Amino acid sequence: MEKQRVHYAELGLANTKEMFTKAMAGKYAIPAYNFNNLEQLQAIITACAETNSPVIIQVSKGARSYANETMLRFMAMGAVQMARENGSNIPICLHLDHGDSFELCKSCIDSGFSSVMIDGSHLPYEENVALTRKVVEYAHQFGVSVEGELGVLAGIEDEVSAEHSTYTKPEEVEDFVKKTGVDSLAISIGTSHGAYKFKAGQPVPPLRFDILEECEKRIPGFPIVLHGASSVVQEYVELINTYGGKMEGAVGVPEEQLRQAAASAVCKINIDSDGRLAVTAKVREYFAKDPKEFDPRKYLGEARKELVKLIKHKNEAVLGSAGKA
Ligand code: G3H
Ligand code: 13P
Ligand code: ZN
Repeated sequence: MEKQRVHYAELGLANTKEMFTKAMAGKYAIPAYNFNNLEQLQAIITACAETNSPVIIQVSKGARSYANETMLRFMAMGAVQMARENGSNIPICLHLDHGDSFELCKSCIDSGFSSVMIDGSHLPYEENVALTRKVVEYAHQFGVSVEGELGVLAGIEDEVSAEHSTYTKPEEVEDFVKKTGVDSLAISIGTSHGAYKFKAGQPVPPLRFDILEECEKRIPGFPIVLHGASSVVQEYVELINTYGGKMEGAVGVPEEQLRQAAASAVCKINIDSDGRLAVTAKVREYFAKDPKEFDPRKYLGEARKELVKLIKHKNEAVLGSAGKA
Protein backbone atom coordinates (compact mmCIF):
# COMPACT_ATOMS: atom_id res chain seq x y z
CA MET A 1 0.00 0.00 0.00
CA GLU A 2 1.33 3.42 -0.94
CA LYS A 3 2.02 6.05 1.69
CA GLN A 4 -0.70 8.68 1.85
CA ARG A 5 0.25 12.32 1.32
CA VAL A 6 -1.50 14.73 3.61
CA HIS A 7 -1.37 18.47 4.25
CA TYR A 8 -1.11 19.61 7.86
CA ALA A 9 -4.30 21.66 7.65
CA GLU A 10 -6.25 18.44 7.02
CA LEU A 11 -5.04 17.23 10.42
CA GLY A 12 -6.18 20.44 12.12
CA LEU A 13 -2.59 21.59 12.77
CA ALA A 14 -1.17 25.11 12.58
CA ASN A 15 2.18 26.38 11.35
CA THR A 16 4.30 28.66 13.57
CA LYS A 17 3.68 31.99 11.84
CA GLU A 18 0.90 33.43 14.00
CA MET A 19 2.22 31.75 17.16
CA PHE A 20 5.59 33.47 16.78
CA THR A 21 4.16 36.88 15.86
CA LYS A 22 2.06 36.84 19.04
CA ALA A 23 4.89 35.46 21.20
CA MET A 24 7.24 38.19 19.99
CA ALA A 25 4.71 40.93 20.70
CA GLY A 26 3.64 39.43 24.04
CA LYS A 27 7.17 38.72 25.27
CA TYR A 28 6.67 35.03 25.97
CA ALA A 29 7.84 31.80 24.32
CA ILE A 30 5.93 28.96 22.71
CA PRO A 31 6.74 25.66 24.41
CA ALA A 32 8.10 22.93 22.13
CA TYR A 33 7.79 19.60 23.91
CA ASN A 34 9.31 16.43 22.47
CA PHE A 35 7.28 13.24 22.52
CA ASN A 36 7.68 9.60 21.46
CA ASN A 37 4.61 7.90 22.82
CA LEU A 38 0.93 8.14 23.68
CA GLU A 39 1.26 9.10 27.34
CA GLN A 40 3.66 11.97 26.62
CA LEU A 41 1.39 13.33 23.90
CA GLN A 42 -1.72 13.04 26.08
CA ALA A 43 0.07 14.89 28.88
CA ILE A 44 1.29 17.69 26.60
CA ILE A 45 -2.15 18.27 25.12
CA THR A 46 -3.95 18.03 28.47
CA ALA A 47 -1.57 20.47 30.17
CA CYS A 48 -1.56 22.96 27.29
CA ALA A 49 -5.34 22.82 26.92
CA GLU A 50 -5.79 23.32 30.69
CA THR A 51 -3.41 26.29 30.68
CA ASN A 52 -4.77 27.59 27.35
CA SER A 53 -1.29 27.64 25.84
CA PRO A 54 -0.33 27.36 22.17
CA VAL A 55 1.97 24.40 21.72
CA ILE A 56 4.53 22.84 19.41
CA ILE A 57 4.61 19.06 19.67
CA GLN A 58 7.91 17.88 18.26
CA VAL A 59 9.55 14.65 17.24
CA SER A 60 13.15 13.87 16.41
CA LYS A 61 14.13 11.51 13.60
CA GLY A 62 14.61 8.79 16.21
CA ALA A 63 11.22 9.47 17.77
CA ARG A 64 9.57 9.30 14.38
CA SER A 65 10.97 5.88 13.64
CA TYR A 66 10.20 4.75 17.20
CA ALA A 67 6.55 5.77 16.95
CA ASN A 68 6.19 4.90 13.24
CA GLU A 69 5.52 7.74 10.81
CA THR A 70 2.00 6.67 9.90
CA MET A 71 1.02 6.13 13.52
CA LEU A 72 2.48 9.52 14.32
CA ARG A 73 0.27 11.29 11.79
CA PHE A 74 -2.83 9.79 13.36
CA MET A 75 -1.53 10.59 16.84
CA ALA A 76 -1.18 14.24 15.88
CA MET A 77 -4.65 14.25 14.37
CA GLY A 78 -5.96 12.56 17.51
CA ALA A 79 -4.24 15.16 19.67
CA VAL A 80 -6.02 17.99 17.87
CA GLN A 81 -9.34 16.15 18.03
CA MET A 82 -8.93 15.39 21.73
CA ALA A 83 -8.26 19.06 22.51
CA ARG A 84 -11.28 20.22 20.47
CA GLU A 85 -13.62 17.67 22.04
CA ASN A 86 -12.50 18.90 25.45
CA GLY A 87 -13.52 22.41 24.44
CA SER A 88 -10.03 23.74 23.78
CA ASN A 89 -9.09 25.64 20.66
CA ILE A 90 -5.33 25.94 21.29
CA PRO A 91 -3.17 26.07 18.17
CA ILE A 92 -1.10 22.88 17.81
CA CYS A 93 1.93 22.65 15.56
CA LEU A 94 3.61 19.34 14.65
CA HIS A 95 7.34 19.95 14.20
CA LEU A 96 10.32 17.86 13.11
CA ASP A 97 13.15 18.43 15.58
CA HIS A 98 16.73 18.35 14.21
CA GLY A 99 15.97 17.19 10.68
CA ASP A 100 19.28 16.14 9.16
CA SER A 101 18.45 15.91 5.45
CA PHE A 102 16.22 17.37 2.75
CA GLU A 103 14.64 13.94 2.24
CA LEU A 104 13.62 13.62 5.90
CA CYS A 105 12.14 17.13 5.94
CA LYS A 106 10.25 16.43 2.69
CA SER A 107 8.92 13.15 4.05
CA CYS A 108 7.63 14.92 7.18
CA ILE A 109 6.05 17.73 5.16
CA ASP A 110 4.38 15.16 2.89
CA SER A 111 2.99 13.30 5.88
CA GLY A 112 1.37 16.26 7.62
CA PHE A 113 4.00 18.14 9.65
CA SER A 114 3.31 21.86 9.86
CA SER A 115 6.89 22.81 10.70
CA VAL A 116 10.35 21.31 10.23
CA MET A 117 13.82 22.05 11.47
CA ILE A 118 16.71 21.53 9.10
CA ASP A 119 19.78 21.33 11.28
CA GLY A 120 22.78 22.14 9.14
CA SER A 121 24.62 23.70 12.06
CA HIS A 122 27.46 21.17 11.85
CA LEU A 123 28.07 21.93 8.14
CA PRO A 124 30.32 24.62 6.69
CA TYR A 125 28.37 27.89 6.49
CA GLU A 126 27.67 27.88 2.73
CA GLU A 127 26.53 24.25 2.81
CA ASN A 128 24.21 25.03 5.71
CA VAL A 129 22.76 27.93 3.69
CA ALA A 130 22.27 25.78 0.56
CA LEU A 131 20.63 22.87 2.41
CA THR A 132 18.39 25.14 4.47
CA ARG A 133 17.36 27.11 1.35
CA LYS A 134 16.39 23.88 -0.41
CA VAL A 135 14.15 22.83 2.49
CA VAL A 136 12.57 26.30 2.68
CA GLU A 137 11.76 26.26 -1.05
CA TYR A 138 9.95 22.96 -0.71
CA ALA A 139 8.25 23.70 2.63
CA HIS A 140 6.94 27.13 1.75
CA GLN A 141 4.96 25.78 -1.21
CA PHE A 142 2.75 24.13 1.42
CA GLY A 143 2.84 26.83 4.09
CA VAL A 144 5.09 24.71 6.31
CA SER A 145 7.40 26.67 8.64
CA VAL A 146 11.15 26.08 8.66
CA GLU A 147 13.63 26.47 11.52
CA GLY A 148 17.35 26.69 10.75
CA GLU A 149 20.34 26.69 13.09
CA LEU A 150 23.61 28.56 13.37
CA GLY A 151 26.15 27.63 16.00
CA VAL A 152 26.55 24.19 17.56
CA LEU A 153 25.17 22.97 20.88
CA ALA A 154 27.19 20.45 22.83
CA GLY A 155 25.59 17.12 23.66
CA ILE A 156 24.12 14.29 21.74
CA GLU A 157 21.18 14.85 19.49
CA ASP A 158 19.65 12.03 17.54
CA GLU A 159 21.79 11.80 14.43
CA VAL A 160 23.69 14.97 15.12
CA SER A 161 26.32 14.78 17.82
CA ALA A 162 28.77 17.41 18.99
CA GLU A 163 31.31 17.15 21.73
CA HIS A 164 31.98 20.86 22.03
CA SER A 165 29.68 23.76 21.44
CA THR A 166 30.43 26.76 19.29
CA TYR A 167 28.47 29.89 19.98
CA THR A 168 26.46 31.45 17.16
CA LYS A 169 28.35 34.20 15.36
CA PRO A 170 26.02 37.21 15.36
CA GLU A 171 27.68 38.55 12.20
CA GLU A 172 26.29 35.55 10.27
CA VAL A 173 22.63 35.66 11.26
CA GLU A 174 21.38 38.41 8.97
CA ASP A 175 22.96 36.92 5.87
CA PHE A 176 21.71 33.43 6.81
CA VAL A 177 18.13 34.54 7.35
CA LYS A 178 18.12 36.57 4.14
CA LYS A 179 19.68 33.87 1.97
CA THR A 180 17.68 30.93 3.31
CA GLY A 181 14.23 32.46 3.91
CA VAL A 182 13.82 30.54 7.19
CA ASP A 183 10.96 31.40 9.55
CA SER A 184 12.98 31.03 12.75
CA LEU A 185 16.58 30.56 13.80
CA ALA A 186 18.01 28.37 16.55
CA ILE A 187 21.11 29.82 18.15
CA SER A 188 23.79 28.55 20.49
CA ILE A 189 24.28 30.69 23.62
CA GLY A 190 25.51 28.18 26.17
CA THR A 191 22.76 25.59 26.51
CA SER A 192 23.30 21.97 25.54
CA HIS A 193 21.16 18.89 25.04
CA GLY A 194 20.52 16.26 27.67
CA ALA A 195 20.64 16.11 31.47
CA TYR A 196 24.30 17.05 32.05
CA LYS A 197 24.58 20.60 30.82
CA PHE A 198 26.99 22.10 33.32
CA LYS A 199 29.57 20.87 35.81
CA ALA A 200 27.92 19.72 39.05
CA GLY A 201 28.95 21.48 42.22
CA GLN A 202 30.05 24.61 40.38
CA PRO A 203 28.05 27.77 39.78
CA VAL A 204 26.04 27.50 36.56
CA PRO A 205 27.60 29.84 33.99
CA PRO A 206 25.00 32.33 32.80
CA LEU A 207 23.73 31.97 29.24
CA ARG A 208 25.38 34.34 26.76
CA PHE A 209 22.61 36.93 26.63
CA ASP A 210 25.12 39.28 25.05
CA ILE A 211 25.24 37.03 21.97
CA LEU A 212 21.44 36.83 21.92
CA GLU A 213 21.23 40.63 22.04
CA GLU A 214 23.74 40.97 19.22
CA CYS A 215 21.66 38.58 17.12
CA GLU A 216 18.45 40.47 17.94
CA LYS A 217 20.05 43.73 16.81
CA ARG A 218 20.95 42.27 13.44
CA ILE A 219 17.56 40.62 12.79
CA PRO A 220 15.08 42.75 14.75
CA GLY A 221 11.71 41.12 15.36
CA PHE A 222 12.87 37.77 13.98
CA PRO A 223 11.88 34.63 15.96
CA ILE A 224 14.79 32.96 17.73
CA VAL A 225 14.72 29.40 19.08
CA LEU A 226 16.43 28.07 22.21
CA HIS A 227 17.35 24.39 22.26
CA GLY A 228 18.65 22.46 25.25
CA ALA A 229 16.36 24.36 27.58
CA SER A 230 15.50 21.78 30.22
CA SER A 231 16.04 22.86 33.80
CA VAL A 232 16.89 19.28 34.80
CA VAL A 233 14.44 19.40 37.69
CA GLN A 234 16.40 18.33 40.77
CA GLU A 235 13.36 16.80 42.49
CA TYR A 236 13.26 14.21 39.67
CA VAL A 237 17.00 13.60 39.69
CA GLU A 238 16.77 12.94 43.44
CA LEU A 239 13.82 10.57 43.03
CA ILE A 240 15.67 8.69 40.29
CA ASN A 241 18.78 8.36 42.46
CA THR A 242 16.73 7.37 45.52
CA TYR A 243 15.01 4.57 43.64
CA GLY A 244 17.94 2.82 42.04
CA GLY A 245 18.98 5.21 39.29
CA LYS A 246 22.40 6.73 38.78
CA MET A 247 22.19 10.29 37.59
CA GLU A 248 24.72 12.06 39.77
CA GLY A 249 25.70 15.50 38.61
CA ALA A 250 22.75 16.16 36.30
CA VAL A 251 22.32 19.96 36.02
CA GLY A 252 20.24 22.18 33.74
CA VAL A 253 19.37 25.77 32.90
CA PRO A 254 17.99 27.77 35.86
CA GLU A 255 14.37 28.80 35.35
CA GLU A 256 15.19 32.46 35.85
CA GLN A 257 17.39 32.43 32.77
CA LEU A 258 14.66 30.79 30.73
CA ARG A 259 12.21 33.50 31.88
CA GLN A 260 14.67 36.10 30.70
CA ALA A 261 15.04 34.35 27.33
CA ALA A 262 11.27 33.99 26.91
CA ALA A 263 10.82 37.75 27.35
CA SER A 264 13.31 38.41 24.53
CA ALA A 265 13.16 37.51 20.82
CA VAL A 266 13.28 33.85 21.83
CA CYS A 267 9.86 32.66 20.62
CA LYS A 268 10.32 28.87 20.93
CA ILE A 269 11.86 26.97 23.83
CA ASN A 270 12.66 23.26 23.40
CA ILE A 271 12.14 20.86 26.28
CA ASP A 272 12.74 17.13 26.14
CA SER A 273 14.98 16.00 28.99
CA ASP A 274 12.75 17.31 31.80
CA GLY A 275 9.87 15.23 30.44
CA ARG A 276 12.07 12.15 30.32
CA LEU A 277 13.19 12.75 33.90
CA ALA A 278 9.62 13.14 35.16
CA VAL A 279 8.56 9.85 33.56
CA THR A 280 11.63 7.95 34.76
CA ALA A 281 11.36 9.32 38.30
CA LYS A 282 7.72 8.37 38.66
CA VAL A 283 8.11 4.93 37.12
CA ARG A 284 11.10 4.14 39.33
CA GLU A 285 9.25 5.36 42.41
CA TYR A 286 6.19 3.31 41.49
CA PHE A 287 8.15 0.10 41.00
CA ALA A 288 10.08 0.60 44.22
CA LYS A 289 6.91 1.21 46.24
CA ASP A 290 4.75 -1.41 44.57
CA PRO A 291 6.97 -4.16 43.15
CA LYS A 292 3.98 -6.43 42.58
CA GLU A 293 2.29 -4.12 40.09
CA PHE A 294 2.57 -5.07 36.42
CA ASP A 295 -0.24 -3.09 34.77
CA PRO A 296 1.46 -0.40 32.61
CA ARG A 297 -1.59 1.85 33.01
CA LYS A 298 -0.78 2.15 36.70
CA TYR A 299 2.83 3.29 36.48
CA LEU A 300 2.54 5.10 33.15
CA GLY A 301 -0.59 6.77 34.48
CA GLU A 302 1.44 8.17 37.39
CA ALA A 303 4.15 9.32 34.98
CA ARG A 304 1.56 11.01 32.76
CA LYS A 305 0.03 12.80 35.76
CA GLU A 306 3.46 14.14 36.73
CA LEU A 307 4.14 15.28 33.16
CA VAL A 308 0.90 17.28 33.14
CA LYS A 309 2.03 18.99 36.36
CA LEU A 310 5.48 19.75 34.96
CA ILE A 311 4.18 21.18 31.68
CA LYS A 312 1.57 23.34 33.39
CA HIS A 313 4.30 24.76 35.60
CA LYS A 314 6.53 25.52 32.60
CA ASN A 315 3.73 27.24 30.69
CA GLU A 316 2.55 29.24 33.69
CA ALA A 317 5.73 30.11 35.54
CA VAL A 318 8.60 29.90 33.06
CA LEU A 319 7.65 30.42 29.42
CA GLY A 320 4.65 32.68 30.04
CA SER A 321 2.59 30.96 27.33
CA ALA A 322 -0.36 30.12 29.60
CA GLY A 323 -3.51 31.99 28.64
CA LYS A 324 -2.06 33.06 25.28
CA ALA A 325 -3.85 30.63 22.95
O1 G3H B 1 17.48 17.53 20.68
C1 G3H B 1 17.25 16.34 20.79
C2 G3H B 1 16.03 15.86 21.43
O2 G3H B 1 16.17 15.84 22.81
C3 G3H B 1 15.62 14.56 20.84
O3 G3H B 1 16.33 13.51 21.33
O4 G3H B 1 17.00 12.28 19.27
O5 G3H B 1 17.00 11.13 21.49
O6 G3H B 1 14.85 11.72 20.35
P1 G3H B 1 16.30 12.06 20.56
P1 13P C 1 16.81 19.36 26.47
O1 13P C 1 17.68 18.16 26.34
O2 13P C 1 17.44 20.41 27.31
O3 13P C 1 15.43 19.04 26.93
O4 13P C 1 16.68 20.00 25.00
C1 13P C 1 15.76 19.49 24.07
C2 13P C 1 15.95 20.03 22.71
O5 13P C 1 16.63 21.00 22.47
C3 13P C 1 15.23 19.34 21.63
O6 13P C 1 15.55 19.86 20.39
ZN1 ZN D 1 17.56 20.52 20.14
